Amino acid sequence: MTQPTVDDHFDEIGEYDSKAIFKPTVPALVVSKHEDEGPNIMTASWWMLAGYNPFRYLLAVSQKIYTHDLIEESGEFVLAAPSTELIDAVTLAGMVSGRDIDKIDHLDLETVPGKSVDVPLLADAVGNIELSVMDSFEFENTTYFFGSVESAFVSKGALDGRILSLDADILAYMGSDWAEEDAQSKHRFYADLDPENLESFPGDEIIESLPPELREQVTD
Ligand SMILES: Cc1cc2nc3c(=O)[nH]c(=O)nc-3n(C[C@H](O)[C@H](O)[C@H](O)COP(=O)(O)O)c2cc1C
Repeated sequence: MTQPTVDDHFDEIGEYDSKAIFKPTVPALVVSKHEDEGPNIMTASWWMLAGYNPFRYLLAVSQKIYTHDLIEESGEFVLAAPSTELIDAVTLAGMVSGRDIDKIDHLDLETVPGKSVDVPLLADAVGNIELSVMDSFEFENTTYFFGSVESAFVSKGALDGRILSLDADILAYMGSDWAEEDAQSKHRFYADLDPENLESFPGDEIIESLPPELREQVTD
C-alpha cells in the first residue's frame, strides 16, 4: 500500500492565502493620540497576548504609518475590540491614514476618556484595553511594541464568567476578498456568532485517557 501524500489530504495554497486558515480572528482598532491633533484609529491584525507579570500585549506597527509616530511619542495606546457595528471603522481605519483625515470624526465615533492613559476608548467597542509601552524592538521597518495593561474594560454585562457573551456581537473577522467582479473595493467578511451556538466542552475524558502519573501532574 502506498502512503497517502499531502496532496491527497489538502489543497495547496499560496503564502498569502495561508492567513485565511487561522480565522475567525478579532482585528483590533488601535487608538493612539497626538498631543495637539487629538486621537486616531487604525486597524491591526498583528497583535497578540505576550506574557503575564506584567500582563502585556505585543503590537506590530509599520514605521511608515501615523499610529507609529503617535505611539512612539506618547508611549500609550488602546486596543479596542470591534463589534460588528464597527465594520465601517475597521474598513476605513485600515485603508486611510490619520495624517490625511480625522477618521474618528469622519466615522462619527463616540469616545470616552481613558482611566489610566491619556488616550480615549471607543464607546461602541465590545471592550478596550489601556496600555503603556514597556519595551519595543525593531525588525524590518516595523516596531513591535510591548504594552503593559493599565486598565481593561468590557461593555456592560458582556463578560459571562471569563467568557465573552456572544450577545456582545464581537466582530469575528474572516478576511477580505473581491466578492464581485466589478467591485471597486474588497468585501470584508465576518461570521455571525449566534449565542445559541456557544458550546461548552469539558476536558475530563481526554485527561482520563492519560497515564496516571501524567494525569496527576496536569490536574494538580
Ligand atoms: C485587516 C487589517 C489589518 C491590519 N493590521 C495592521 C497591523 O497589525 N500593523 C500595521 O502596522 N498595519 C496594519 N494594517 C494597516 C493599517 O491599518 C493602515 O496602514 C492604516 O491606514 C494606518 O493608519 P494610520 O496612518 O492612521 O496609523 C492593517 C490593515 C487591515 C485592513
